[in-house]
Amino acid sequence: MKTLDDLLGEGVAGRRVLVRADLNVPLDGSRITDDGRVRAALPTIRRLADAGAKVVVTAHLGRPKGAPDDRYSLRPVAERLGALLGAEVTLAGDVVGEQARSVVGGLADGGVALLENVRFDPRETSKSADERAELAGELAALTGQDGAFVSDGFGVVHRKQASVYDVARVLPAYAGGLVLAELDVLRTLTGDPRRPYTVVLGGSKVSDKLAVIEALLPKVDRLLVGGGMCFTFLAAQGHGVGSSLLEQDMVDTCKRLLAEAGGKLVLPVDVIAADAFAADANTRTVASTGIDDGWLGLDIGPETVKEFAAALSQAKTVFWNGPMGVFEMAPFAEGTRGVAQAIADSPAFSVVGGGDSAAAVRLLGLPEDGFSHISTGGGASLEYLEGKELPGVAVLNEGE
Ligand code: 3PG
Ligand code: MG
Repeated sequence: MKTLDDLLGEGVAGRRVLVRADLNVPLDGSRITDDGRVRAALPTIRRLADAGAKVVVTAHLGRPKGAPDDRYSLRPVAERLGALLGAEVTLAGDVVGEQARSVVGGLADGGVALLENVRFDPRETSKSADERAELAGELAALTGQDGAFVSDGFGVVHRKQASVYDVARVLPAYAGGLVLAELDVLRTLTGDPRRPYTVVLGGSKVSDKLAVIEALLPKVDRLLVGGGMCFTFLAAQGHGVGSSLLEQDMVDTCKRLLAEAGGKLVLPVDVIAADAFAADANTRTVASTGIDDGWLGLDIGPETVKEFAAALSQAKTVFWNGPMGVFEMAPFAEGTRGVAQAIADSPAFSVVGGGDSAAAVRLLGLPEDGFSHISTGGGASLEYLEGKELPGVAVLNEGE
């Protein structure tokens, strides 16, 4: 796989370099609530700009329906990127159209431009390889002669999309620093992790995490399960879960996983139950086996946090993906905070996988340096741990 260092070694002064970044940040209206992904994208962009490249960044935001939609404009991201770089980042008003050509044409050496949300173009996510190739060709054409492509959007390498996969087959393609760093960490987890190896999984659905649970169970020493998905496991053990989130069609699968796990899979012993899905609901802490009808579990309880923290303090390797409760609402944030704090306090090599958990760490005000690595990729890191091929990485291994 050719890397950013190889490209810099070739020399980039005066060349136009297309960089795919993952700038898919959480927004509240047009306010960025967590700019972790923008900050993670900086080093590669900076190295290219410092070496005199004209840097053309392409990225997506959210899931617009293949047409321009102001709610998904990258405008706030261009502003934040510029502020963090200390240089103006011009946002092209379109993806590969006249405005993109004009903004890219006007770039000075060392300048940085951002193309508008690449998912405004329906060809980006098209199932048709021909359609994607057409957009990839137009993206490549923006770089003119001697163009190059740097793949640095780790959070999106599991997507076979035009700006991630197809463009790497048209332009000379190089892995960016973020992609390399992320892959390095994940390799440590799938290789020979120091033991005990403890994984914490949360999030709402078992169905989303099924593949990773299956892949991890044989490899880990402990799998601690919180978040909405713990209720399907509790139901599989025969407990009533009231109105908690429940995937009825996954109950049998959870039964099988519990049987196969032989005690490795640890469920909450208590939960914070609420009488409504609301920040001002009435709440009570109950045993996880005793959730009354009409009540729903929205966080793991304090005894569970203690048990999980004890396991985490002994671990030598930790991977965490998915919040333990509805941490966006203060009454249901303590489980996620407690587990995150326990990971930060643990001397283990610790990896936080993914968009939501990474944002939770920062939004809850935990020290980022308590974690060995905070990944920018949720789906991407899970798919890697599942042993799936990541198209955006595989294509870089294809060579020219
Ligand atoms: C993410 O937020 O996980 C990445 O940016 C990928 O986004 P997607 O799930 O919409 O493809
Ligand atoms: Mg730590």
